[in-house]
Amino acid sequence: MSELTLAIIKPDAVKKHVIGDIISHYEKVGLQPVAIRMMHLSKSAAQGFYAVHKARPFFDSLTTFMSSGPVVVLVLSGENAIKKHRDLMGATDPAKADKGTLRALYGTNIEYNAVHGSDGPDTAQFEIGYFFPGMDLVTR
Ligand code: TYD
Repeated sequence: MSELTLAIIKPDAVKKHVIGDIISHYEKVGLQPVAIRMMHLSKSAAQGFYAVHKARPFFDSLTTFMSSGPVVVLVLSGENAIKKHRDLMGATDPAKADKGTLRALYGTNIEYNAVHGSDGPDTAQFEIGYFFPGMDLVTR
């Protein structure tokens, strides 16, 4: 089933100059970018995006990091895009991520882990709407 998911290339990966490499990985596994924005999140925009984590001990540090420099936000389309993208990203902690996954290749630690991906259909809908309000969510 073709579906949409939201990806973010985080500030650490942008600083490492691997935007192109990461997008190339998406395309190679059949995740097609259908929307792209480069933006510098404010602290409050990062807090709104990660609101689900607001009670977690890492929330303040995470939102400071996510607003520390530019990010690239993408909507990816493909067969089972949400799971396919999570598999491509690897585990949250790059030290535990499988070899060849984006976090193993480009992440530094559990916070500076290079990429974000929606973890389910409801999250994908919220996250796509957060950055691309009014986007037609019909898959193609
Ligand atoms: P989470 O939703 O658990 O992971 P994922 O990004 O794999 O879906 O956490 C969201 C982000 O919060 C994660 O990418 C990095 C950050 N984070 C920390 O900084 N420290 C932590 O201990 C955890 C679990 C996450």
